[in-house]
Amino acid sequence: MVPRAFTVRERRRETADTWTLTLEPADGGPVPSFRPGQFNMLYAFGVGEVPISISGDPAGGGPLEHTVRAVGAVSAAICRAEPGAQLGVRGPFGSSWPVPEATGRHVVIVAGGLGLAPLRPALLEALALRERLAGLVLLCGGRPPAELLFRSELARLGDDPRLELGLTVDSAAPGWHGHVGVVPRLIGDAGFDPARAVAFVVGPEVMMRFTVDALLDRGVDPADVHVSVERNMKCAVTQCGRCQLGPAFACREGPVIAYDGIAPFFRGREV
Ligand SMILES: Cc1cc2nc3c(=O)[nH]c(=O)nc-3n(C[C@H](O)[C@H](O)[C@H](O)COP(=O)(O)OP(=O)(O)OC[C@H]3O[C@@H](n4cnc5c(N)ncnc54)[C@H](O)[C@@H]3O)c2cc1C
Ligand code: FES
Repeated sequence: MVPRAFTVRERRRETADTWTLTLEPADGGPVPSFRPGQFNMLYAFGVGEVPISISGDPAGGGPLEHTVRAVGAVSAAICRAEPGAQLGVRGPFGSSWPVPEATGRHVVIVAGGLGLAPLRPALLEALALRERLAGLVLLCGGRPPAELLFRSELARLGDDPRLELGLTVDSAAPGWHGHVGVVPRLIGDAGFDPARAVAFVVGPEVMMRFTVDALLDRGVDPADVHVSVERNMKCAVTQCGRCQLGPAFACREGPVIAYDGIAPFFRGREV
């Protein structure tokens, strides 16, 4: 439960309200290993602690990366942290995207807005294991193009023969040549075999519901659709009950959960 001090090495602006922070242990020790989809509790000293997914490369060896949207007191304090400042880190916690288990299958990654942050480690791992996969599809949606995360990385991936990339925005801006419309609409034409597909979905709850429906309509098995349930959390270690989702704790069984296991609770409102 005790946070470890990390120093901000770099702070990179992604969108108007979202920053990626690169963090290193203040004691010079190693960065803990993590699985794609896991999260840390980040503590802005004197302000508070919130769960934030790890957005960096799980291959290890590098610093810790988190991509944070400033929506309230704690997330805004984290986003303001300049290089040299310290943050507390507890974790990593939670379940992960089953990338190694997808050998021989089509991996379909669907992200809405900030949802690309927790999916980026899964994408990097899928690219590293690409030769073992039957296919790799990345579908991303933002509202305007300026709200798409990791834009220079997405531009590079557009030319990468190892994956099929689909980008869409709700409202186009000058210079935008991609799709216009919501991200679930890209699923119908995406190049994957539903019988051999495993899908990972993160985004606003309404986007996730429509995306799951589109995947199931196309014939993907509900057990092969994995979503991230980002319920509010306090302790991250099953002690406070804040994150309960029916019989499951989102901080232990989640945040990554197969849709067939939570279908009855997925469409309920959070209390
Ligand atoms: C497992 C997990 C992973 C997360 N990963 C990221 C991430 O990678 N990047 C990121 O920016 N945020 C992430 N979040 C959300 C982040 O934890 C919240 O934005 C943060 O807790 C808000 O705290 P605050 O004090 O800044 O704002 P508050 O004042 O607590 O809240 C501001 C607004 O955000 C809403 N809110 C707060 N927490 C959540 C939540 N968990 N889900 C939906 N709405 C919420 C509140 O209802 C309120 O409307 C994640 C949450 C979880 C549970
Ligand atoms: S966050 Fe406390 S029980 Fe899950």
